[in-house]
Amino acid sequence: MSSTLTGRPATPVFSDLSPRLGVAVEGIDLRGTLAPGMFARLRQALLDRQVLCIRGQDIGPAEFLATMRMFGEPEIRPYIPHVEGFPEVTTISSGDRDTQGDGGRLVVGATWHTDDSFRSAPSALTALYGVEVPEVGGDTEFANLYDAYDALPEATKHRLAGLKAVHMMKPDREGIGRVRSLAPDVRAAAVPSVHPVVRTHPDTGRRSLYISRNRMDGIVGMDRAEGHRLIDELTAHAIQPRFVYRHKWRKGDLTIWDNRCLIHKANGDYPEGMRRFMRRIILLGDVPV
Ligand code: SIN
Repeated sequence: MSSTLTGRPATPVFSDLSPRLGVAVEGIDLRGTLAPGMFARLRQALLDRQVLCIRGQDIGPAEFLATMRMFGEPEIRPYIPHVEGFPEVTTISSGDRDTQGDGGRLVVGATWHTDDSFRSAPSALTALYGVEVPEVGGDTEFANLYDAYDALPEATKHRLAGLKAVHMMKPDREGIGRVRSLAPDVRAAAVPSVHPVVRTHPDTGRRSLYISRNRMDGIVGMDRAEGHRLIDELTAHAIQPRFVYRHKWRKGDLTIWDNRCLIHKANGDYPEGMRRFMRRIILLGDVPV
């Protein structure tokens, strides 16, 4: 492979991160202008592979924001810790503390979830930029909900057709633990949303499960126990190793994922004292159908 004086490959190189999902690209510098046609390639790679990691970046919040604006409209969450002057660019840090609980370390997103399913139009894409990454641990895991759906028995697919689930910020359910967040309660978040259990991706047209166990209060028209049982079964099915890719972070990774066809999970398993610092941008999405 030919390379420039900076050590970047002269032509961007795409390589799959796992057999099922994820693609990395090397040889792109987001501080400059993308070559003609490159954005379309990146977007298509993300749609095809659900997780796109643009390696080796050295960007500030303005460049991060400009990149993500190509993919969609960033959400603004001024109540979450963010980079000063950039309310769209929130931060996730090994220094985060659970101020609403015991004051201990707070690992944002430590259970399998898709971002903000409690909203009527949940997030489409999320991007994390690795400013500081631990040498050990701190991976993000992704489960492919297209493949999980495709692998279901036909009878189960038939059972799920037309089913809707109630998603809320804090479901009234035993055994899911407190949802730990850096955000204070916001009124809008307290309003439940109803979404199909199987959704069709607006860009790929593919069907996937749409589940997020800790935000799901129940299934419409089912008694609570039966609804919870179904949610648990679908979750256990979706997070089998055969559907999961585990992203080991490198400093300078800008990793974008598609919340419409994945669930993901942060791992807080890096040693105390080791730093992990991420900048995050979440893009607005559509009402799931
Ligand atoms: C998240 O759930 O948005 C955070 C993922 C991570 O920090 O690995």
